Amino acid sequence: MASPRMKTTRLLHGADYNYEQWLNYPEIHDADFAYMQKTKCNVMSVGIFSWVMLEPEEGRYEFGWMDRLLDRLHESGVYAILATPSGSKPAWLSHTHPEVCQVDRNGIREPHGARHNHCRTSPVYREKCVAINTRLAERYKDHPALLMWHVSNEYGATECYCDYCLDAFRQWLNARYGSLDALNHAWWTSFWSHRFTAWDQIRPGDQSIHGLQLDWRRFISHQTLDFFLAESQPLREITPEIPITTNFMRPNVGLNYWDFAPHVDIIAWDSYPRWHFPEEEWREGLITGFFHDVHRSYKNAPFLLMESTPSVTNWQGTSIPKKPGMHLLSSLQAVAHGSNSAQYFQWRQGRGGSEKFHGAVMNHLGTDDTQVFADVTSVGESLEKLEPIGSAVVEARVAIVYDQENEWAIRQAEMPGSDLLHYVDRCIAHYSAFWRMGIACDVIDSVGVIDLERYSLIVAPMLYMVRPGVADRLISYVEGGGTLVLTYLTGLVDESDLCFLGGFPGPLRDLAGVTVEDTDIVVGQHTQSVAMVDGAALDGSSDRYTVTDFADRLRVCDATVLGRFTEGFMDGLPAVTMKESGKGRTYYLASRNDDRFLLDFYRTLTSRAGLESVIDGPLPIGVNCQTRRDGERLYCFIMNFNKESAEVSIGSRQGVDLLTDEPAHGMVTVDGYGIRVIEVRKGEDTSASDPG
Ligand code: GAL
Repeated sequence: MASPRMKTTRLLHGADYNYEQWLNYPEIHDADFAYMQKTKCNVMSVGIFSWVMLEPEEGRYEFGWMDRLLDRLHESGVYAILATPSGSKPAWLSHTHPEVCQVDRNGIREPHGARHNHCRTSPVYREKCVAINTRLAERYKDHPALLMWHVSNEYGATECYCDYCLDAFRQWLNARYGSLDALNHAWWTSFWSHRFTAWDQIRPGDQSIHGLQLDWRRFISHQTLDFFLAESQPLREITPEIPITTNFMRPNVGLNYWDFAPHVDIIAWDSYPRWHFPEEEWREGLITGFFHDVHRSYKNAPFLLMESTPSVTNWQGTSIPKKPGMHLLSSLQAVAHGSNSAQYFQWRQGRGGSEKFHGAVMNHLGTDDTQVFADVTSVGESLEKLEPIGSAVVEARVAIVYDQENEWAIRQAEMPGSDLLHYVDRCIAHYSAFWRMGIACDVIDSVGVIDLERYSLIVAPMLYMVRPGVADRLISYVEGGGTLVLTYLTGLVDESDLCFLGGFPGPLRDLAGVTVEDTDIVVGQHTQSVAMVDGAALDGSSDRYTVTDFADRLRVCDATVLGRFTEGFMDGLPAVTMKESGKGRTYYLASRNDDRFLLDFYRTLTSRAGLESVIDGPLPIGVNCQTRRDGERLYCFIMNFNKESAEVSIGSRQGVDLLTDEPAHGMVTVDGYGIRVIEVRKGEDTSASDPG
C-alpha cells in the first residue's frame, strides 16, 4: 500500500514545543505564537512527553489544553506533528501496574522515573498505549493542524529481562530455529558446556555465547518494532491518510532501522553534531553528512531532520555555541542530503528538569533579539527561498555498505585486534573519499530490497558477517557490470556468528579471487605500507601508502595483483587485488590503508566509471558539495565547514544563488561556515558531465 502523503509540500521549519509546561503562563503562550511567525516556523512537534497531562488518572482524559494548542497552531498557520506519549509513562501507571517498568539483568525491577524505559512486551503497557492513541486519533483525526504522527520518541534498544520479555524471546528463538538442536548448533554450545536442553534454560546476558548475544539484539530490535506497530495500529486504522513517523537516532543505538523503514511513511531523525570540536573541525561535517545519507537511504527518499539544537546541548559534557554561519550551514546541510525540514529540540527552554539548560529557540531571557533567534529566523527565511527543492531528490551512484547486524557482530568479536576494529569509523573513512570529491553516496545495509544495479560502485568495508543471500546478491551485481570493493576482515562469520570454514572471505572468496591465510596486526613500531605495481598506479601523487592496524596475508587464486606490501616479513606480498567476473570487477584491499590511499584509489575508480562532481577541480579540504535534482533543475549545495572562506569553481555552468538571488558562475566564494545553494538549469548546465 502506498504511504499517505503530507498535506503540504513546503519545507518544514519548527521545533518540539512543550506547550503543556507553560499552562500557567498564558503570556508565554502568546509570545510563543508571535515568535513562531517571526522565525517563519510552520510546524511544531507537540505532546511528546505529555501522557500525564492528557490522562492524569487511569481512564480519565483531559484534552482541553491539547484542543486549544492545536486550534491555536492552526490559526497561526503552523502544522502539528502530534506525538503519541509512550516515550514517558505517568507515575500512576508504574504504581498501579509495576509490570510496565523494566527488569534489569539481575532480575530487579527498576523504579519509576526518567523516560524511554518501559517494557516493550508488557500487555498492560501496550493496552494503555493503544487506549490513549485511539483517543488521540479519534479526537484529532479531522483537525486541520494535524500533519503527521510522531510515534513515541527515540525508541532505543533498552533491555528488559522480565518474564514477559524472556518468554517472548524464547518464542522468537523457537520460531527462528524450530528445535533446540538447531539452536545449539547455531550457537556452538558445546563450547564451555553451554548446551541447552530446555527452552526455559535460555537467558540472555551470557557474553561468551556470541550467537545468543546476537540473537538477543535482534530480538530487542524486533520487539521494539513490534511495539511500534502495536501502538501505531489505531493511528493507521482511524487516520489512514495521515503519515506516520518516529524519530530515529544514529543507528548505533542498537535497533535495526532498516526493519522499521518500510513501516514508517517518512524517515525522521535527530542529529546532534558537536560542532567546533575536533582539531580538523570539518570532520564533524563529514560525519554528519554520512549519517544524513544513512537516513535518506532507508527509503531512498527525502527525510525530515526532526531534532537538532538551535544552539547547544546540555548532555554532551561540553557543547560549544555555534559560531556565526554554522546554524544555517548545519541546518541546510541536512537539506543538501535530502531532508525536507530543519526542526529543533526545543522551541523554549523549560524552567526546571534536567533539560532546562538545553539550547532552545527561546531561552530564559525570553526575547527575540538574541543571536540564536536571528540564526533560527535566517534558517526560516532560507527555507522559504528553497521551497522548490522539496520535490528534488539525491541521485547517488555509489553505495557504502554500513550494516547494522554486522556492527553488532563486530563489536562482540573478541579477536586479535578487537580494540582496533572501529567499524563505523572505517565506513566513514571510505565515505570520506567521496565526500572530499563531492560525489554523492547512499549508505546501505547488506541485505534488503534495494536494487543494487542502480550503483556503479559499491564499497563494503569490513563485511565481517555475510548473511544468507548477500554473497549471491553481490555476485550478480558484479557479473552484471558493477564494481565492488571488499576489504580485510570480510566474510569471517555467517548470520549466527559461526566462522566460515575453508578460508575467508567465506562465500565471497570466489568473487574476490583471494583467500586470507591470516591477518597481521600493524601497530607501534611494527609498520607496513603498500605500493601499487607498475601499470596500476593510482590517480594521485603518492607511490607509497601507510598501513595501520590490519594486513591480511593473502593467497591469490585468480585475481590480478595491483599493489604489494613493502615492509617486513610481508614485503612483496599482495595487498591490493582485482578480479573480473562477468561484466564487473571486485577489488580486495587486504589492509587498512591511509586516507591518501582511499582518496587516490576512489578517484581512480570513479573516473573510470565516469562519476564526477559538479565542482570543477579538487574541492578544498573541508568544503563539500551535494546535489538534489528535480528533472531539469539541479540544485548544488556548496558547504564550507572551515573557519576560513574558500573558492570553488562550477566551471562554465550558469546558475543562480537561491539564497541571494544573484547569478553564479565560474569561481564561487563560500564564506567560512558558509553555504551557497546554486540552481543550475539543464540548458545552462553546459559542462560535459554531472552526477546522475
Ligand atoms: C533527544 C530527545 C529529546 C531531547 C533531546 C536533547 O535525544 O529526543 O527529547 O532530550 O535529545 O538533545
